[in-house]
Order: sequence, then structure tokens, then C-alpha cells
Amino acid sequence: MTATTALPGQPHIRYSGDQLHVEGVVLSQLAQEHGTPLFVYSKAAMLSALAAYQRGFAGRQAQICYAMKANSSLAILQVFAEAGCGFDIVSGGELARVLAAGGDPAKVIFSGVGKTRHEMKQALQVGIGCFNVESEAELDVLSEVAMGMGKVAPVSLRVNPNVDPKTHPYISTGLKGNKFGIAHEDTLRAYRHAASLPGLKVVGIDCHIGSQITETNPYLDAMDRVLDLVADIEAAGIPIHHIDFGGGLGINYNGDTPPEADALWAQLLTKLDTRGYGQRQLMIEPGRSLVGNAGVCLTEVLYLKPGEQKNFCIVDAAMNDLPRPAMYQAFHQIVPVKTSAGQDAVYDVVGPVCESGDWIGRDRQLQVQAGDVLAVLSAGAYCMSMASNYNTRGRAAEVLVDGTQAHLIRQRESAFDTFALEQLV
Ligand code: LLP
Repeated sequence: MTATTALPGQPHIRYSGDQLHVEGVVLSQLAQEHGTPLFVYSKAAMLSALAAYQRGFAGRQAQICYAMKANSSLAILQVFAEAGCGFDIVSGGELARVLAAGGDPAKVIFSGVGKTRHEMKQALQVGIGCFNVESEAELDVLSEVAMGMGKVAPVSLRVNPNVDPKTHPYISTGLKGNKFGIAHEDTLRAYRHAASLPGLKVVGIDCHIGSQITETNPYLDAMDRVLDLVADIEAAGIPIHHIDFGGGLGINYNGDTPPEADALWAQLLTKLDTRGYGQRQLMIEPGRSLVGNAGVCLTEVLYLKPGEQKNFCIVDAAMNDLPRPAMYQAFHQIVPVKTSAGQDAVYDVVGPVCESGDWIGRDRQLQVQAGDVLAVLSAGAYCMSMASNYNTRGRAAEVLVDGTQAHLIRQRESAFDTFALEQLV
């Protein structure tokens, strides 16, 4: 019998013997079969992350709307649609993906500060569940578009609770200086305005304070502020049918210790019950916490380049595949997919893109040699969905693992694919 070691916080990604597995599939074999860079996802990991939310909401009226910007690949959406999830979308393109993946438009909520008239029409045509509106100007336009179609748009207003989520400034969204949401003090006026418009029906209220949140208190504070607003709005005669608390729960990238989804919601539901809102229709929009630790990115070591100040481990994945380190100085663990005969040293793991910002990990102790395959962990969220073709690099292929089965869910993009829509003059 070989020893099995699961990676911390990632029970579906484990070493068995010296080989790293996602569920029952050996990653070095997948790399050989499909090439690298290659994203590999565990279906069981996604469903178990979802189950933590479902446990948390047992006995409540709650709709989980997967924030698909975290990973919008069709087969991933299919997994969540089949598990009963709705979707939080931010563009007409995302709506088209939901429909292509078999999602239910009635369980779709449409967030974002800049919806176009065309996107509003698209969403009204298929009958989405709710528009999360972010400004008074957007209310006017949505009402006009809906009336033009002989429809009434269901709306919720995204309020900005002015709470510090204590996360990276680029991914905190509920503070006053952010472009998101309607300021606390303007909320009642905005609701009155919404209720007066003939093309709209007020159905809810929502907030989202940021992403990669690892503490419970910001959520509790935001909930208090939102519930205060619900009381004021209902006192003004506008009923609020659902309360949407957004997404944002963090994952363990590097020893981070966010609460489990069920533990977080046990606390939040206690507050809701105490304040008398426990039986309302609840909605949430988790993204990262459903997929982040369900995925890895496999990448091959191309060259080792020792240097006076730094040793570089040059791999075939780059900032176009894994943009988070370059964009947010984010940390992703990097581990070998099997034991290597290479040299043990401290390396900066970098990609082939022509930018000094193209790094994937800094100062990492690794035993590697050219030809080895490394796994970049916690790569299920905001990697493939943020990937680009910079340097005319085709985007990576993706595999979804289900037990011992590995399904190719996206083919590797060829150079031709990257310029297929272009033409010479
Ligand atoms: N709802 C709204 C309105 C959002 O803006 C977001 C994320 C979510 C839900 C889902 O948040 P999550 O549960 O995934 O934290 N690219 C960044 C993260 C950007 C998050 C944007 N909004 C990163 O890689 O860290």
C-alpha cells in the first residue's frame, strides 16, 4: 500500500506514492496526454465546496448563485447547474454561457455597474431572475428598455455598506471609494425612485463587500447595515422579498484560514434570526470558494537559469494563463507532480512572456530539472477565466476529473485560433 497525503485544505488533490493525483487520476499522465499548460479540476472538490454552503442553508429558503466570473468554462457551469445552482452573471456573454451549459435563466442574477441596453434586452428576453442595479441612472435605462419590450424588470439594488473586508485593495468592493453599489445614505431615495418607475418591480436588496475575505466580522457588519436598510425601505412601503449577501469568502492559498462556508453561515443566520429576517428568501453569490481549490495548473519546466542574485525556473505557463501573481502579487503554491532527480534550490518560477511582471512564484524551494511538470495550486478560480492571448499564446486546455475519469472540457487554443477573427486590409 502506498502512503496518501492530501494537500492542506484540498482533500481531492493528493500524493499517492510520489505521484500527485486529482481524485483518481495521475497528473503526470494527464500532462503527457494533453500537454502543458493544462488546467485540471476536481468535480468532487467543487461539489464538496458547494455542499458546505448547502449544509449551512439547510431548512432555509436560499438560492446559491455561482459567481461564474471565477471560472466560466461550460462544463464547470454544467456541474453547478446540475447541482441546482443559479448563476451570478456580469455580461451578456456570461448569460450566453449559462444558457449553453443548460442553466436555468430564472435563477440568474445580473450584477455589474455597466450593463448595456443590449445586455438588458438579452436578459429580459430569456426572463432572468433579477437585475442587481448599481446606480439610479441604470434604473432609468432598465425601466425604459423593459417598457419598450412590454416587460417589467425584477430589480434589486446593490448597496454599498461601507465595510472594510480587509483584503487586497483591487478586490475590495464595499468601501465608499469604490465604483460599486449605491451609497448607504442614497439607498432609500434610490428605492423610492425604483418603485416609481413603471418598467421595474423591486424584488430585493444585495451587497458584495469584496473577495478573498478570510474573516467573519466584515460579513456580520455588512449584514447589520443591510438589514438596517431593509427596515427603512420596508417602512417606506416597499417590500423586499429577497436579501442577497454577495460572495467573497476566501480560500486557503498560503496558510489562510477563512471560515468554512457552513460555519460562516451558522453565525450569519443567527444574526438574521435575532433580527427577525431568518425566514426571508436568501441569496448568495460565491465564486472563488466553490472552485478555487478544485483546480491546478500543470506546467512543464523548460529551463533552469541559475544567476548571481536569483535562480530562475522557466516554465511554459505564464501571466497570460495565471494572471493573479502579476495583477495582485497573489501567492499560489507550486509543487512537483512527482519526485524529481533535479537540483534542490530556491527559484523564481517565471513564464516565457516578455515582461518582468511575468512571474508565478517567487523564492520557492524546489527540486527540479528541465522536463519536470509542476502543479500550480488553487488555480480553479480567476485563472482560466482571466487568461489572455498576450504574446499570441493560445489559452491552455482544461480537463475535468470525475473519480478515475478525465474529461477534456476545453481544447488547447492554436495560434490560428488566436487570430481567426482578424483580417488583412
Ligand atoms: N458577486 C459580485 C457582485 C462580485 O463582484 C464578485 C466578485 C462575486 C460575487 C464573487 O466573489 P468571490 O466569491 O469569487 O470572492 N480577480 C480577482 C477577484 C475579483 C472578484 C470580483 N468580484 C482575483 O483573482 O482575486
